[in-house]
Amino acid sequence: MKLPRRFFQPLAAGAPQPYRDLPVRLERMIHFVPPHLDKVRAKVPDLIPQVDVILGNLEDAIPADMKLEARRGFIAMAKANDFGGTGLWTRVNALNSPWLLDDLMEIVAEVGDKLDVVMVPKVEGPWDIHYIDQLLAQLEARHGVSKPILVHAILETAQGVANVDAIACASPRLHGMSLGPADLAASRGMKTTRVGGGHPDYRVLADATEGTARASYQQDLWHYTIARMVDACQANGLKAFYGPFGDFSDAAACEAQFRNAFLLGCAGAWTLHPSQIEIAKQVFAPDAGEIAFARKILAAMPDGTGAVMIDGKMQDDATWKQAKVIDDLARMIAA
Ligand code: GLV
Ligand code: MG
Repeated sequence: MKLPRRFFQPLAAGAPQPYRDLPVRLERMIHFVPPHLDKVRAKVPDLIPQVDVILGNLEDAIPADMKLEARRGFIAMAKANDFGGTGLWTRVNALNSPWLLDDLMEIVAEVGDKLDVVMVPKVEGPWDIHYIDQLLAQLEARHGVSKPILVHAILETAQGVANVDAIACASPRLHGMSLGPADLAASRGMKTTRVGGGHPDYRVLADATEGTARASYQQDLWHYTIARMVDACQANGLKAFYGPFGDFSDAAACEAQFRNAFLLGCAGAWTLHPSQIEIAKQVFAPDAGEIAFARKILAAMPDGTGAVMIDGKMQDDATWKQAKVIDDLARMIAA
């Protein structure tokens, strides 16, 4: 389906180029901050050089009676800081909430030129993206915003997962998608009380063998949804992200969940606690052994075609492409 380019009305010659021309940025972590808290905003200058993306959260986890303070706090934080190469995002309230319209109107009016991405929660279908897309186009035109504001959808309802492919191609304004495991668990009727990660009871039993105890393996609750999201995103040139991991006391489990997402094709994850920033930096980067092997493949097949053996393993055009993904990422991190 060819989409109409209604998303941005250039006001003059020299207006911004289509979104796909924007530079690809490193986004290993989207770091959430609650902007209604003075002490949090005071730490933003120290955080900026440590993270790839800083996000002012206006939605869940912000109390209903603090929504206006959070919006104003985000605007103040955006105005007060130079973000350099760090992305500035906000997560606005849901489309069916009383706050979304004012979130967008006030933020684009005040700091539209500094805002890179609007994260939209509880997206159920392409119609939600169309609405945000039209609204942003009007607000950009009204306020003469010179850089197009991108949209990132959270995949966190059963209906959203059912419509994931249609959401992924709903607008050229889309940046990517994140899995929201907490809302998705509720929407699906899952019997859990967690924010992401596994569950000790979600497991398979190995076959019984006489004389030995039966082994039992915990499974990844999110494998299916991450895989669907990655396919929908990659098919449309978007980036996929794992969302939150709520047990801050379990760094090993956070790392394991992030690593599954990385291996399956995600570009990054949310970090809700400063301790998760280093975990994301380590996980969403290929390790030295992988990079060295990828570079052996690229060197052995300079034009990316044919078949060669390296360390006893067959390589061909397809492994050359895998190696290129790893090498490109390693170069971006080193730059
Ligand atoms: C995130 O918003 C989630 O619901 O997991
Ligand atoms: Mg949520």
